[in-house]
Amino acid sequence: MLAALPIAEPDPLWALISSFRQDRRTDKIDLVVGVYRDASGQTPVMQAVQDAEASLAAAAASKSYRALSGNPVFNDGMSRLLLGEGAEALNRQCTIQTVGGTGALRILADFIALVSPHATVWNTNPGYVNHRPIMTAAGLAVRAFRWQENEAGLDLVAVVADLGEARQGDVVLLHGCCHNPSGIDPTPEQWRLLAKLCKDKGLIPLIDMAYQGFGDGIGEDAAGLRHFAQKFDTVLVAASCSKNMGLYCERTGAAMVIAPDRDPLANIRATLERITRANYSMPPEHGAAIAAHLFENPGMWLAELEASRRRVAEIRCTLADALAGCGAPDKFQALRRQKGMFSLLPLDQRQMNRLREDFGVYGTANGRINIAGLLPRDVERLADALRAVSSSPSFVRAAKASA
Ligand SMILES: Cc1ncc(COP(=O)(O)O)c(C=O)c1O
Repeated sequence: MLAALPIAEPDPLWALISSFRQDRRTDKIDLVVGVYRDASGQTPVMQAVQDAEASLAAAAASKSYRALSGNPVFNDGMSRLLLGEGAEALNRQCTIQTVGGTGALRILADFIALVSPHATVWNTNPGYVNHRPIMTAAGLAVRAFRWQENEAGLDLVAVVADLGEARQGDVVLLHGCCHNPSGIDPTPEQWRLLAKLCKDKGLIPLIDMAYQGFGDGIGEDAAGLRHFAQKFDTVLVAASCSKNMGLYCERTGAAMVIAPDRDPLANIRATLERITRANYSMPPEHGAAIAAHLFENPGMWLAELEASRRRVAEIRCTLADALAGCGAPDKFQALRRQKGMFSLLPLDQRQMNRLREDFGVYGTANGRINIAGLLPRDVERLADALRAVSSSPSFVRAAKASA
């Protein structure tokens, strides 16, 4: 059997993380790992989470199996966080707890494959590196539609052109906020246009909400999703608590299916539970119990999340100022406007290699950097390194070729 095992390349992101760890330079800068870091470079356990854990430990009664769809208080809190208190769609949705946002995506992919096996999933390009593998692992066809216009912003003309080829019943995978990797989010007007486009073509929205609270605010970041929920009979939502609660390793997320009305909800729940049952049976309790506690006592959590959001927004501006100050090309100024933890640098793979080899700055080969990994003391040095590599011959050639 093992003789037939195909060679699997190591995951390129984890390979990069491993070479960062082995790099002996003391001034190296890690902009690869997709986690929030505070100004001292730590990925802290939020105080609100520590308090929740303390009270959970004090109250722990049993580790017996929980429900197939996870913690009901968590599921209820997630649906309200995503759709907003009092939203009409709360009455026609089913939410189950999943193993992180990734688990939510996979459960929904299996759900789509069951209900609509011939649907194509339309994925943004550039896009989140794991979306395509998750969808194809469930047997679904995936096609890409263009998202980013150079460094500037959303390329709506290209979106309309590419989705023009989508067929009725196809699924459009949108990032709820803080697009990974570009940081380019639709404006409210663009969300409305996207909704109209999908509706006119009979497409099903699948919205991946992995960074709620890291863009413009916890409610603001859900505005696009909430608009879709108002306008559509059917919406699929994958949500993660990894970033906005800092629960990365606790693997805490949720999958939501919004239906036209209440009638199919029991069957949707039973179907989702069948899918999880054949997979991991039920999700782990700890992260969801913490999140449920935060939903019941949100004050400190929301304040800590807001502080993290502000740090990311501020470090974007500080970096953009430093880039302007050192004479780097104007293209880099788009970093200032983009949202959330990630941006794509206007650099090609050779320049990213040079950034790593000559300056000890680690981003992914496609130019993605995690802004939240940048410490205030490294801003000037990063700006100088970016200016240096962007004036290298390959950049000038690339700029001319695209002009
Ligand atoms: C766009 C997007 N979706 C989903 C995920 C997965 O989140 P989780 O770590 O909760 O599985 C990530 C994580 O980086 C992400 O960036």
